[in-house]
Amino acid sequence: MSADEEPAPDPASIIRLATSYWESQCFLTANRLGGFEALGDGPKPADEVARALALSPRPTRLLLKACVGLELLLEDERGFRNHPSAQVFLVPGGVAYLGNAVRYGDDMWTPWTALAAALREGTPRVATETYTGDDPEKTRNFVYGMHNRAMGIGMALVGMLDLSGRQHLLDVGGGPGTYAALLTRANPGLRATVIDLPEVAALADEILTEMGAREQVEPLAGDYRETPWPTGIDAVLISGVFHRETEDTCREFIARAREALAPGGLLAVADVFTDAGGATPVFAALFGLNMMLSAPDGGVHADADVAQWLEDAGFRSVDRRPFPPPMPHRVVTGVVARVGTGADAGVR
Ligand SMILES: C[S@@+](CC[C@H](N)C(=O)[O-])C[C@H]1O[C@@H](n2cnc3c(N)ncnc32)[C@H](O)[C@@H]1O
Repeated sequence: MSADEEPAPDPASIIRLATSYWESQCFLTANRLGGFEALGDGPKPADEVARALALSPRPTRLLLKACVGLELLLEDERGFRNHPSAQVFLVPGGVAYLGNAVRYGDDMWTPWTALAAALREGTPRVATETYTGDDPEKTRNFVYGMHNRAMGIGMALVGMLDLSGRQHLLDVGGGPGTYAALLTRANPGLRATVIDLPEVAALADEILTEMGAREQVEPLAGDYRETPWPTGIDAVLISGVFHRETEDTCREFIARAREALAPGGLLAVADVFTDAGGATPVFAALFGLNMMLSAPDGGVHADADVAQWLEDAGFRSVDRRPFPPPMPHRVVTGVVARVGTGADAGVR
C-alpha cells in the first residue's frame, strides 16, 4: 500500500483504551460481591439483588445494567439473570467454575495501578510470596484459581501430550497438581511427583485427595531450585513457571530436566509465550507486564526462544504448538535421544 492509500488515522482505539478498565472493574466487582452467585437460582429485580448483597439500590441497578451491556447478565420483566456463560463459569459449585481465577485478576488490580512505580523502580508491586504461602487467603485463592483453570487447560494438555507407556512424570512448580492428576488419569500406569512450595503443596494434597488422585500423584514440598529432582523419570512437565524466571534459570531447568530424564524421556514446557519479537499476541505481551508486577524476574518469553534453548541443551524432535483457542498457552516439547535411535516425538 502506498502512502497515499493509507487509511486516515482513527482515534477510536485510543478512546476505547482510555476507558477499557471500566469493563474489568465492573466485572471484577460484580464477581467479588457475589453478584453472579446471587442470581444463580434465577431472575431477581435489582432491589432484591441489592438487598441480598447489602448494597445501595440505585448504584446496584447501574452495575446490573452495565453487566447486561457486557453480556454477563440478561434482563426481562422478571428482573436480571445470569447469561448462560456466567451461569456456567461464575456461579460457585459447578465443575467449570472460574470465579477463583477471576479473583486472582481482582487481587492484581492494585499492583496494576502502581505500574508507573514498577517501571521507575524496576521491582514488582506485590511480593510473590503473598500468593505462595505468606497470605493464607490469597494463597488459597491463587491455588484454587490455578486448579479451576487447570481443569479446562489440563484437558487440552492431556490431548496434546502422548504419555502412553510412560511411568513417572515430574511436574515442576505443579501448583495444585491438577495437570498431574488429569495426566495420570488419562495414562494408566503413570504416576507423578509434583514439586511446589510447602504451603502450595499442602493445598495440592487437599485438591488431589478431592480428585481421588492421591495414590497416583505425590506432592513434594520444596523450592524447585534447591530440592533435588528425582532421576530416572521419563517425562517432565514445566508449566507456568518460565514466565517467572530469567533465560538463565530457564536454561538451567532445561539442563536439569535433561539430566533427570532417561533416554527417550519427554520434556514439555507449557506457558503463555509471545511470538518472536515479543509484541504479539497482545495478551501475551500484557501478561509479561502482569508477571513483572508480581515476581522479581517475572516477564514473558517467546516460544521460539524456548525451543532453541531445548535444542541447545541437546533435546531432539523439538516441537512447539498452540493450545486450542481461546486458551493463550503454547507448549514446547523435546525428547532425549535413545542411544543410536534418534528421538521419538512424544506428542500427539
Ligand atoms: C503460575 S503457577 C503454575 C502452576 C501449574 N504448573 C500450572 O501451569 O497451572 C507457578 C507455580 O510455581 C510455584 N513456584 C514458584 N516459585 C517456586 C519455587 N521457588 N519452588 C517451587 N515452586 C515454586 C508456585 O507456587 C506456583 O504453583
